[in-house]
Amino acid sequence: MTPASLVKVWDPLVRTFHWALVSAFAVAFFTEDDFLQLHSWAGYLVLALLGVRLVWGLAGPANARFAEFVRSPAEVFRYLQDVARFRAKRYLGHNPAGGAMIVLLFGLLTLTGVSGLAVYGSQEFAGPLASLMRGMPAAWGEAFEEMHEFFANATLSLVALHLLGVMLASLQHGENLPKSMLTGFKRRISE
Ligand code: HEM
Repeated sequence: MTPASLVKVWDPLVRTFHWALVSAFAVAFFTEDDFLQLHSWAGYLVLALLGVRLVWGLAGPANARFAEFVRSPAEVFRYLQDVARFRAKRYLGHNPAGGAMIVLLFGLLTLTGVSGLAVYGSQEFAGPLASLMRGMPAAWGEAFEEMHEFFANATLSLVALHLLGVMLASLQHGENLPKSMLTGFKRRISE
């Protein structure tokens, strides 16, 4: 039975998506060229997960919807000012900074995945972009590889910021946000 002080915030799809994304990103990041097969499957999984989450962001329950947590840059900035003054409002769903982080993470993960497909196509002649890459100068393959590496490292920097944000919000509001991403529950707002 659920205690009355708790409320369900994250549905099973959002939670499964999150931890599957964490695992797939970690596998892709740490395997690189050494285990190319595993690396490319982890990359495909990241792209597939983003596709599913995109649909869920439009058609899923309220807390999963982009319309619920994607805010204007001005609102994100105001929220960050409140965080710095230790008077940020507590949100049950994603706060405005969390929403902005999700948009950035989705963008960079997509760029990392697509540039990875371009590397796979141009250097290994494999994957869905292989036929498009046929006959392309070798320099292009190298440029794609540089881009892929750059996007992957930029994503890792965002992940570090994401973890910092999760930690800060958990401390400011006296709650365990990673635990709620596991269980789906948070403390009610009125408590
Ligand atoms: C152990 C490491 C991680 C922890 C503890 C963690 C924790 C969390 C938490 C608590 C939230 C919800 C924040 C809120 O209440 O608004 C969240 C959301 C999110 N995190 Fe992480 N995170 C981790 C790693 C990652 C990584 C590596 C990525 C991307 C590669 C990532 C991407 C996301 C995304 C996209 C969301 C939004 C989920 C959704 O609405 O579908 N996280 N994370």
